[in-house]
Amino acid sequence: MQGKTILLIVGGGIAAFKSLELVRELRRAGANVLPVLTENGARFVTALSLSALAEAKVRTSLWDLEDEASMGHIQLSRAADLIVVCPATADLMARAAQGQANDLASTLLLATDTPVLMVPAMNVRMWQHAATIRNVATLRGDGMTVMEPDVGAMACGEFGPGRLPEVPAIMSAIAAHFIPPALAGRHALVTAGPTHEAIDPVRFIGNHSSGKQGFAIAAALAAAGARVTLVAGPVHLPTPPGVTRVGVVSAADMLAACEAALPADIAVMVAAVADWRVDAAPAKIKKGGGAPPTLALTENPDILAHVGHHARRPRLVIGFAAETGDPVAGAKAKLDRKGADWIIANDVATGVFGSDATHVHHVSRAGTEDWGAASKADVASRLVQRIIDAI
Ligand code: CTP
Repeated sequence: MQGKTILLIVGGGIAAFKSLELVRELRRAGANVLPVLTENGARFVTALSLSALAEAKVRTSLWDLEDEASMGHIQLSRAADLIVVCPATADLMARAAQGQANDLASTLLLATDTPVLMVPAMNVRMWQHAATIRNVATLRGDGMTVMEPDVGAMACGEFGPGRLPEVPAIMSAIAAHFIPPALAGRHALVTAGPTHEAIDPVRFIGNHSSGKQGFAIAAALAAAGARVTLVAGPVHLPTPPGVTRVGVVSAADMLAACEAALPADIAVMVAAVADWRVDAAPAKIKKGGGAPPTLALTENPDILAHVGHHARRPRLVIGFAAETGDPVAGAKAKLDRKGADWIIANDVATGVFGSDATHVHHVSRAGTEDWGAASKADVASRLVQRIIDAI
């Protein structure tokens, strides 16, 4: 934390007094603290105490001409490495979730793209109210970190979750922001979705792949700090934050996009690539009374095998196997054939396509693990944790 600048917003709650101890610990750890005290925060702690401990001027208002002249609030919102809101009251979180800018604290939160850590403290009923649950989910969805409050006896006499976390826990959460994410500096290539092989300008051969599993893996890799290139077949899923998407249609397009994306440290090939392509007719094939057309099929290149045996092979190559029989036996055979380190095998006869739920086996040369029934998001985070351990 040495030399880092923390913009500390102190909200109006009984726990505000603990923010003074937090300031002292931050200074001890070598951080600079820029304190902001809300109007209600000032009912619980004084600007003088905060300023003395922070060894910095305390800001309290948007409308202070002297403060604005020395450093405007927009500039202030971007001057920090991290913004910490402690205590984060129900009201302040609600206003931040709605994007309101009606005092200095909420304006700073709206005007910045600096990471934000909210440290909530409030009455247990307020924390458990549907509105607060909604607001916390919104803030997390917007990319802010919201700590879970401690459980215990509260100043108001009630018991439950809502207490401000202890200062060492807050310090750990702040420190975690300055640890580079596990896959920082790594490039991951992910394929997802189906491919469409044209029969003529209006028809194609496709499959039921929804792209959900591949997109969840791309999102989890990006969240772990990797630079992610997601080569996606035709699906209507939103691109996960921080992911570079390359949209493709056919297996040939997908192969070319993967080749262009190399080198990579990690390849996770989740796409359901069409095994065959058609020599597409240049014009729409008409019915015209005769015998139905016969489609001559040519085998597509195997993209996983291409990457798995590449001169610039990624350090870790992971394939998926869609099986309708015993998923493990089929997957084992694919390990060597495709040059993969691991195959994630699933039985697609059980309604996996398009569903959020799945059941996979992790197959490697070291053995096989049944990961049980899980959501595709859970499989993605478990797989990414494995990747982090292996890399
Ligand atoms: N795969 C690929 N290119 C292909 C076919 C498959 O990259 N042309 C990849 C998939 O993305 C997946 C893995 O290979 O990671 C296994 O796919 P799967 O369909 O289970 O295997 P196939 O090789 O098609 O074998 P089969 O259909 O005969 O089981």
